[in-house]
Amino acid sequence: MERVFPRKVLLGVTGGIAAYKTPHLVRLLVKAGAQVQVVMTPAAHDFVTPLALATVSKRPVLTDLFVRDGSGLWNDHVHLAAWADAMLVAPATAHTLSKMVHGQSDNLLLACYLSATCPVFVAPAMDLEMFRDAATRTNLDALRERGVHMIGPETGELASGLTGEGRMTEPEAIVDALIVALLDGSKLAGKRLLINAGPTQEAIDPVRFIGNRSSGKMGFALAEEAALRGAHVELVAGPVTLITDRPGITRTNVTSAAEMAEACRSRFPQVDVAILAAAVADQRPKQTAGHKLKKSDGPASLDLEPTEDILAWMGANKAKGQKLVGFALETKNGRAHAEDKLVRKNLDLIVLNTLEDAGAGFGHDTNKVTLIGADKNAEELPLMSKADTARRILDHLERLL
Ligand code: CTP
Repeated sequence: MERVFPRKVLLGVTGGIAAYKTPHLVRLLVKAGAQVQVVMTPAAHDFVTPLALATVSKRPVLTDLFVRDGSGLWNDHVHLAAWADAMLVAPATAHTLSKMVHGQSDNLLLACYLSATCPVFVAPAMDLEMFRDAATRTNLDALRERGVHMIGPETGELASGLTGEGRMTEPEAIVDALIVALLDGSKLAGKRLLINAGPTQEAIDPVRFIGNRSSGKMGFALAEEAALRGAHVELVAGPVTLITDRPGITRTNVTSAAEMAEACRSRFPQVDVAILAAAVADQRPKQTAGHKLKKSDGPASLDLEPTEDILAWMGANKAKGQKLVGFALETKNGRAHAEDKLVRKNLDLIVLNTLEDAGAGFGHDTNKVTLIGADKNAEELPLMSKADTARRILDHLERLL
């Protein structure tokens, strides 16, 4: 399986000789799809240059809590820690490990560690006797007990010329360990997903359109969560104001139902799963005026024609093994309509949204949905954030894979 790692990694580099391997480590992470923000301790600068790390990570390298150029600027450790999906300290010297245990925060790396709520990994690297020392052992045990993941160290040749335990795990194996720890177990890892999101706009003339109130938030939450689980996501988005910078997501912007259909149909044969969360217009004006209609020549009524039903087309054309998830937005008799759509469009799962629930549906950050499988078994979820709803939908989908 292709190794993909669409994560935001905060890489802490400390002052040990193994730091010379970190540009390679960054390259491997970036190649696997990660975004890497490097934070160095001051001592790490003696072993590897910020220029090398900034070049391979394509981001400025940070070292200081405070920018001492009289500007009054500071590097926000809280923001950096919140940005990260995972923090990796490699190499982790005995000194930094000790400071981590004792909650010291006299440099940016340590302040980030104290602020981090994401999984933290350390790849210790030091000489044999330092590693054997009771203090180091106690520190490593304390960190392990607090949930910090240990990667290595390995036994081998050390910088001192001695041979023994203390070598930093090789960059390739560090990346493997991260992927296994964070992505293994997800049936979506390595899978190709097509997700559409947002409304469509059907032009009446160059300035007016028929649209709807979809914000795209549910589809974007699904795309982010699927990418986090290691999937390659093709996100086809209608006109929305949302942004996503998560690696693993390839975004295509469309405006009309016809463009949405074209983008989705052409991608469908290559994907394992399609989730159609977009609110595609069912009707469009038969004619679009080439110029802005004047009040005087504005039509009293609009002639409409149906758009293509993308989901129904996919249901009729899906290959063996391809899974299809649709949404149903209903205002009355939700369950019956959703079940009908599930059968009619040949779906594996339908997500029923009823606008009857406060805080659910268009524009909100929360949603309240019922998941109905092909066996008609229904899982009614409580009101929760769209990110949590996305997790539950994908958990359900993983059970179908
Ligand atoms: N859908 C689609 N193409 C369309 C219209 C809808 O792919 N032209 C998809 C939506 O993305 C959603 C599902 O069909 O996943 C259900 O959409 P909805 O508007 O609720 O259902 P319709 O089939 O249009 O039925 P109705 O309007 O009668 O409720």
